[in-house]
Amino acid sequence: MLKSLGWISMLALTGLVGAAVLWAAEAAREGEPPPRPPGPPEKRGPGPRGPVAAAAPSPPPTAKSDEEKKILEVLDDMFRNQRQGMMNVPPDDGRLLRVLVEALGAKTVVEIGTSNGYSGTWICLGLRATGGKLITHEIDAGRAKLARENFKRAGVESIVTLVEGDAHKEVAKLKDPIDIIFIDADKEGYVDYLQKLLPLVRPGGLILAHNIASHERDLQDYLKAVTTSPDLETVSANTRSSGIGVTLKKR
Ligand SMILES: C[S@@+](CC[C@H](N)C(=O)[O-])C[C@H]1O[C@@H](n2cnc3c(N)ncnc32)[C@H](O)[C@@H]1O
Repeated sequence: MLKSLGWISMLALTGLVGAAVLWAAEAAREGEPPPRPPGPPEKRGPGPRGPVAAAAPSPPPTAKSDEEKKILEVLDDMFRNQRQGMMNVPPDDGRLLRVLVEALGAKTVVEIGTSNGYSGTWICLGLRATGGKLITHEIDAGRAKLARENFKRAGVESIVTLVEGDAHKEVAKLKDPIDIIFIDADKEGYVDYLQKLLPLVRPGGLILAHNIASHERDLQDYLKAVTTSPDLETVSANTRSSGIGVTLKKR
């Protein structure tokens, strides 16, 4: 009896470890730390510069209208049920995108890397308020299809143009001024996207680059390009997760 219980526990333990490894691998692909298991907030010891505050989870967003509530519900559902394999931004990065879009009064946002439309839906949350539109690019037909469904569920499909294909080719066709670019696709392509789109970004506009903390080594050339030009000013945000490079095209 004890022997078989031992085997059962061994099997259960192996299963748990396997699941944890898959979970961590999925998060590592996108460069995020794996989500913290439920429980009390993580306590951190004193760092080299003294005590480090515990990373308190952000309080959830509060909807101001039924429309906002519906979009937040769709985002929550995407986060809970579709995240696997979608390489989505963490919710805090999505919230930052929304804040920047709305604060800047952006009318045109161009996104590279739609996936299933998670970050795009956060962007649309801001664009609803500014009367703007999103042009988003995705090379994978399956993810593009899912994104279309999600934009529809969130009720934002009328302000989204989803361009299916290789964004390196597709962005070269854009002609109109852009308020914000959000780059979240092939890391080796960031410099090409920047070079092709920067001339269209209006003075005072922003170039946002995802994963600048988690993929710092892969993005060396991009970081050099946005930190050495006198025309640009770059700061890093949300570096506790994947990190978003926020680059201002100076006026
Ligand atoms: C990190 S995911 C984007 C996640 C998305 N921004 C979100 O948070 O919901 C990167 C996406 O870029 C797409 N991608 C990669 N290379 C691309 C290219 N050359 N053109 C268009 N999309 C590309 C991938 O298929 C993938 O869906």
